[in-house]
Amino acid sequence: MVSRFNDFGDMYEEMFRLPWRAHVETFSVWRALGDLSGEQVLDIGCGTGVYSREMKRRGAARVVGYDISEGMLAVAREAEAEQPLGIEYVTSPPVSEAGTFGVALGVYVLPYAEDYPALVGLCSVAARALRPGGRFVTLPVNPDFDGRHDYYERYGLRLFDAEPRGDGSRVTLHLHFGRYDQQITARYWSRPTVEKALRETGFEAIAWPPFGVSEEGMTRYGEDFWQPYLTCPHAAIVTCRRT
Ligand SMILES: C[S@@+](CC[C@H](N)C(=O)[O-])C[C@H]1O[C@@H](n2cnc3c(N)ncnc32)[C@H](O)[C@@H]1O
Repeated sequence: MVSRFNDFGDMYEEMFRLPWRAHVETFSVWRALGDLSGEQVLDIGCGTGVYSREMKRRGAARVVGYDISEGMLAVAREAEAEQPLGIEYVTSPPVSEAGTFGVALGVYVLPYAEDYPALVGLCSVAARALRPGGRFVTLPVNPDFDGRHDYYERYGLRLFDAEPRGDGSRVTLHLHFGRYDQQITARYWSRPTVEKALRETGFEAIAWPPFGVSEEGMTRYGEDFWQPYLTCPHAAIVTCRRT
């Protein structure tokens, strides 16, 4: 399933221009991440490195982007070559540097854990990298997402259950914007299961802060446009702290 990401680099780069990513997701992720000045940051499932680059620009001392897709990392490395920021992109977790990171980010990577051990595995990549008190911010599929096929249509995506909803069940993410029309299979994880995996791997202070909209996004698109997404977003934000 993950090998499919090798072909999705350009699509993921362009997706950041979609209003929900530009004005809701990134706005809310920056709010959840807080001050990054001087931090060592691990971006788990960094994809093409959009967040990695921006975290470096926002003052992180060091950013390591980790992803298992060579295709996604090729796009990230190209951007680094064009505009060097000193970001390191790696295809395996930085185990030799355990406990040295202050922040870990994992945007839409937990949905690619195909079973519970894989979910725990991804959480432990963050847990091992972080020093005690280090912060982890991650975005799973919203455990309460609206499964109606057209609910997220106006935002350029569809998300629906491909089988009865339960831990590890398949959900279909249909991205259709610009020249793109792609279906991706991801996994649903319930709130108690996400929290269990985080606690088991050494996290505490688990919270699910709501999404917000940037001022620019509100002015440009208006409250009515955002209301369905804010009422029931397709993703969730989880924040927690390494014990
Ligand atoms: C939906 S993309 C998100 C990419 C990026 N975080 C973003 O927001 O654009 C999910 C990424 O997670 C990566 N991925 C999936 N499973 C992974 C794993 N076990 N370890 C590291 N990366 C993984 C995929 O290769 C893909 O690049």
